[in-house]
Amino acid sequence: MKVLVVGKGGREHAIITALHESPTETEIYTFPGSDAIFKLAKPVEADGVASLVAKMKELKIDLCVAGEESYLVKDEGLANACAAAGIPCWGPPKEAAQLEASKEFAKEFMVRQSIPTGGYSSVETVEEARRAIGGQYPTVLKFDGLAAGKGVAVCSNEEDAEAFLDEVLGHRKFGGGRLLVEEYLEGPEISIFASVVDGAYQILAPARDYKRIYDADEGPNTGGMGAVSSLEMFEGDLRKVIDERIVQPTVEGLQNEGLPYRGFLYFGLMLTAQGPKVIEYNCRFGDPEAEAVLPMVVGDFAAHVFEGAKGVLNPDLITFKSGWSICLVSASASYPAGSRSGDVISGLEKVSDARVFHAGTKLNDSGQFETAGGRVLVIVADGSTREGAVANVYRESDKVSFDGMQRRTDIGTRNF
Ligand code: AMP
Ligand code: GLY
Repeated sequence: MKVLVVGKGGREHAIITALHESPTETEIYTFPGSDAIFKLAKPVEADGVASLVAKMKELKIDLCVAGEESYLVKDEGLANACAAAGIPCWGPPKEAAQLEASKEFAKEFMVRQSIPTGGYSSVETVEEARRAIGGQYPTVLKFDGLAAGKGVAVCSNEEDAEAFLDEVLGHRKFGGGRLLVEEYLEGPEISIFASVVDGAYQILAPARDYKRIYDADEGPNTGGMGAVSSLEMFEGDLRKVIDERIVQPTVEGLQNEGLPYRGFLYFGLMLTAQGPKVIEYNCRFGDPEAEAVLPMVVGDFAAHVFEGAKGVLNPDLITFKSGWSICLVSASASYPAGSRSGDVISGLEKVSDARVFHAGTKLNDSGQFETAGGRVLVIVADGSTREGAVANVYRESDKVSFDGMQRRTDIGTRNF
């Protein structure tokens, strides 16, 4: 089977590794990919959705996998263009991908389908925003569009809220668009993933990620500094409750509203005292959650995705190992405000009992990997207990270093 994976980060490196290790034989291509990914997948060059799909036709690609979200809503939409070309695509059409691309679309969908989520108002001006906040703090402000993860502010006071309103509605930092003022939800977060094939679905192993740059969940938000995954995170009847109240009504709602969906669907949930509530949907796997979850897959991941993209969900194709999987992100100097490129990474060859996924690296002229982005490496280890997995991932990660490296010391311990 010839498969092409779209994306270039740690998540795509993990997806490609899982495809490569599947019993189904694969010949893997990637766009745009990275030097580390090119060890497993051949690069394809393209310029936009139409040219990428034309290349896939030329190469006789059997399956397209959307690792990242941006191409799903770009131009005519990756899945839409694949459908027109007769190429099965794992990732939804543009219309359904609005669940991620527009926060207001997602909220309206949840209200229509009676899916538990926080209350909200959608506003256009600073005045309207102030009225909607009504002096109630903390409050949550979200720009209604893709903002590279920077469009959300959890504001504990008026000063923070005013600063964000000024940036987003005053100075239009992310361009035109509405703003959602959301009810602040409290509780531990959990990331739930489902493989969705039209009206059918399979819930995968859950995860928890760590979004803040510093230990103890302090400092600014990042793309994610680590993640933990285990089936044991489904304590008591949590899986059943999440399935019945959230996953099933979401999948049925998509189907009933004429929004066909094939691909991974990610539910960002807050486990509040009133039960789980949806914070957001993403139309793809989480990053860095994919790096922790996918190494636990047992079975034929490539067949799971390929059959799914063709409209058949066979729940026997994959299951998950017991125990715990933990991934730890190493970020470059000045992340998340900026990033630093060109710091040579040493010790990669010493890692013996963990996987290394590359999020932002490139090969230099001497053939060494160096930093080339904010999040640089994602090291993943497992263990039969959470404590064991934590010990393993830190022992292996300590073998790797580069100038300016930033890494949290509490991944897998904090929030448990
Ligand atoms: P989002 O981009 O919507 O996932 O938001 C990023 C992060 O902001 C989430 O992972 C939460 O930690 C936090 N957040 C978002 N919405 C809320 C909310 N309604 N209440 C509390 N925290 C939130
Ligand atoms: N880990 C959060 C995300 O992928 O959006």
